[in-house]
Amino acid sequence: MGLHPLKEVLSTNKQTLRNSTAEQPFVAVFTGATQGIGSFALLELCRSVAYLQIHLLARTPTSPTVVALIAQCKNLCPNVVFNVIQCKDLALIRDVDAATEQILRFERGEKEGGKGKGRVDLLCMSQGYLTFEGRKETKEGLDTRYSLIYHSRIRLTQNLLPLLLQSTHRGGARIISVFSPQGEKQLFESDLSLRSASHYNFTNTGSHVAYLKTFYFEELAKKYPGKLSCVHYFPGLVATGTFMNATLPLWFRVLWTLLRPLTALLSVKREESGARILYHLSENFPARGEECEGVALASDGTRGGGAYRVNYDNEVFPCKGDFERLRREGFAERAWVYSNTAVEEIARNGVFTG
Ligand SMILES: NC(=O)c1ccc[n+]([C@@H]2O[C@H](COP(=O)([O-])OP(=O)(O)OC[C@H]3O[C@@H](n4cnc5c(N)ncnc54)[C@H](OP(=O)(O)O)[C@@H]3O)[C@@H](O)[C@H]2O)c1
Repeated sequence: MGLHPLKEVLSTNKQTLRNSTAEQPFVAVFTGATQGIGSFALLELCRSVAYLQIHLLARTPTSPTVVALIAQCKNLCPNVVFNVIQCKDLALIRDVDAATEQILRFERGEKEGGKGKGRVDLLCMSQGYLTFEGRKETKEGLDTRYSLIYHSRIRLTQNLLPLLLQSTHRGGARIISVFSPQGEKQLFESDLSLRSASHYNFTNTGSHVAYLKTFYFEELAKKYPGKLSCVHYFPGLVATGTFMNATLPLWFRVLWTLLRPLTALLSVKREESGARILYHLSENFPARGEECEGVALASDGTRGGGAYRVNYDNEVFPCKGDFERLRREGFAERAWVYSNTAVEEIARNGVFTG
């Protein structure tokens, strides 16, 4: 059953999300939600909230999948308003910038000459794809997959920060990044971008993302107490199209197809997956504030510390690997500087080589 049974998750979500009105809709930005886990969270939000404003980034807004998803959302929540924004490639920081600019303009109200405050209550990011291929450099100098699961998400966070800080959601705005917080193993401190062929692989990318995102989210939570709660969430095994994408070897796709009855049994179900993501909007995962009992333990060991590494069942992961040494040696500051510099240099010069 676990510490957070689905029944509790569903009833908490209902409580947490009951306050939206036509004047004060719940405002959410979804990236990587045109299919898969992100779309399950989007659908669950539409099931749970009465008035919604959704900003949905999509590679092809007019694709049948996106059109069908929006229709399903409207069916579940007649008062949902969609702002669908084309973002051709989320791995490109300049595409992220163009898309977030549109959200900022929309939320600040073009009619008011961009002077409206606007707000975002939830930024939910799940872009990515499963691949065992080698490093695939974007024209901006990042690895494509690494950028999707890390750098693009840092840029989305940076750009939307002014709107997130205006959130009226109880416990602060939520930044939820769906990937794998528990992957910390090796960290190549002199090659954070994993440029060396001997450093780059599937496991090491996951490991770098686990370390960097933990430190980055902790820093954000400290900088904006009471305002921002950041969650790095591991969804468990969820049967999505990612296991059949064209970059995977044929043997893998054949095996996945053959094992489908078994994986269907072992997978977290779609509705449960969506509901467990939304559970992070509850008071159990608050922005940093006074330490208090009864809420989740943040990754820095503070109860209610504002930055959480969470397993599929909503239990937090302890920090293992080299975290203790890295904290002692002040690596958090380096993680912050590296992450900001990478995306800011691309925005300025079009490329990052560090
Ligand atoms: N499924 C699992 O069991 C599992 C387990 C652990 C971690 N994860 C992680 O969870 C996240 C979501 O996984 P999922 O299973 O939901 O994957 P999915 O079904 O393949 O969905 C991936 C999403 O990312 C988008 N995307 C991929 N590349 C993009 C790009 N270059 N530009 C813009 N959008 C892009 C896709 O857009 P399109 O619709 O346009 O393709 C889609 O919306 C991933 O980061 C994955 O690594 C998944």
